[in-house]
Amino acid sequence: MKLSYTHTHTLLNWTTLYTDRRSFTDNMSAALCAFILTCSALCGSTVVSGVLSKPTNVRLTSHDMNLVLRWESKEQPAGLVYTAEYKPSLADYRVGCVNISTLECDFTCLNISIFQYGKYTGRVRAQSGSETSVWVESNQTTLDKDTIISSPNVSLFSNGATIEVSIQDPIFAISALREVYNSATYNITYWQDGQKQKAKSISNIQQSWVVLNDLEPWTKYCVQVQIKTGRNADTNLSKPSSAVCESTTVEEEAPWVPAVVTFVVMAMAVALVVVAVLYRKRIFHFLCPKDALPQHFKEDLLACPNSSMYIAMGNPHPAEEIYHQVIIMADSRTLAEGRPLESAGQPDTT
Ligand SMILES: *[C@@H]1O[C@H](CO)[C@@H](O)[C@H](O)[C@H]1NC(C)=O
Ligand SMILES: *[C@@H]1O[C@H](CO)[C@@H](O)[C@H](O)[C@H]1NC(C)=O
Ligand SMILES: *[C@@H]1O[C@H](CO)[C@@H](O)[C@H](O)[C@H]1NC(C)=O
Ligand SMILES: *[C@@H]1O[C@H](CO)[C@@H](O)[C@H](O)[C@H]1NC(C)=O
Ligand SMILES: *[C@@H]1O[C@H](CO)[C@@H](O)[C@H](O)[C@H]1NC(C)=O
Repeated sequence: MKLSYTHTHTLLNWTTLYTDRRSFTDNMSAALCAFILTCSALCGSTVVSGVLSKPTNVRLTSHDMNLVLRWESKEQPAGLVYTAEYKPSLADYRVGCVNISTLECDFTCLNISIFQYGKYTGRVRAQSGSETSVWVESNQTTLDKDTIISSPNVSLFSNGATIEVSIQDPIFAISALREVYNSATYNITYWQDGQKQKAKSISNIQQSWVVLNDLEPWTKYCVQVQIKTGRNADTNLSKPSSAVCESTTVEEEAPWVPAVVTFVVMAMAVALVVVAVLYRKRIFHFLCPKDALPQHFKEDLLACPNSSMYIAMGNPHPAEEIYHQVIIMADSRTLAEGRPLESAGQPDTT
């Protein structure tokens, strides 16, 4: 592109030179002029004009309260840089970006104070070596009125048959959404997945945490949120958030049931601890009795059984015992006379 452009210029200039030569052969100044033009064309088209081509399509834009000057350039020869400035209304231009090679300058990234309700204009010029283009001025932008607000971030949390919506405001380059627009509200639109035509919406919401509770259990719902700045008869809105969806689950049990269960368990635990503390001595005695068995009892109990009696008890066929038969006969005379029984022990006369 660049080559053919330069080539065309060269041809045109040679044609000019030829025409000039034919018409004013003796006009040396014309020839000199043509020569300079030709040389200029050969050396580079930017020098032809003697000045740099100015930036085009210069516009001052604002997204989420930033302030950015953007422009375009037909040619971008090496070493071409730009200087951008900004001007608050009723004040002079101030330096923004100096000698940058990009096609934009974000004034809110610089350490300069930008007023959230300010009206600003920008301008830019190109520079290459010692040459500069003319300044090109942009449109005027009123930050709080013209800034384009991004969509809020929306997160959904399913909680039984309800869905909780958490909304995060877009982050502003200067200030914050609620500081710039103190009457900003949310318009929350929600619908059963696949039935957007039956969408319901709730508006004038100021809190960033909202519970949707008129929902069917076990159903997928989608939610979309848009911020209304409360300015300009509600024409100034944020971009709507993209729809996010979440399913409801079962109807939630009565909230007091887990509370009661917890209370009962806690009460029982406390009662157990109290009983244990009050009767700790008895419980201790029961588990570890103080009165020990006398030592010889323990020895006897633990000793190996070796007495003949014990062995005999253990024997299933006891040995035949040897005995003599003894017959004891009563003395009828003695009994009849009522004599004391002591005499019975005396040797029998029979
Ligand atoms: C910007 O570039 C010009 C020309 O190259 C130079 O004179 C000037 O000092 C530069 N300014 C800064 C702030 O670098
Ligand atoms: C920003 O500018 C202020 C004064 O204008 C200065 O005190 C501060 O150090 C600067 N901060 C940075 C990061 O340059
Ligand atoms: C919104 O969420 C996206 C992705 O999670 C994140 O990159 C972005 O910073 C969030 N924006 C805000 C304002 O929190
Ligand atoms: C909220 O947003 C929905 C969908 O964009 C729209 O139909 C409705 O009119 C809005 N409500 C208000 C009060 O702006
Ligand atoms: C805000 O409303 C004003 C007045 O209706 C309008 O000029 C301006 O363009 C709107 N801004 C945006 C970002 O839509």
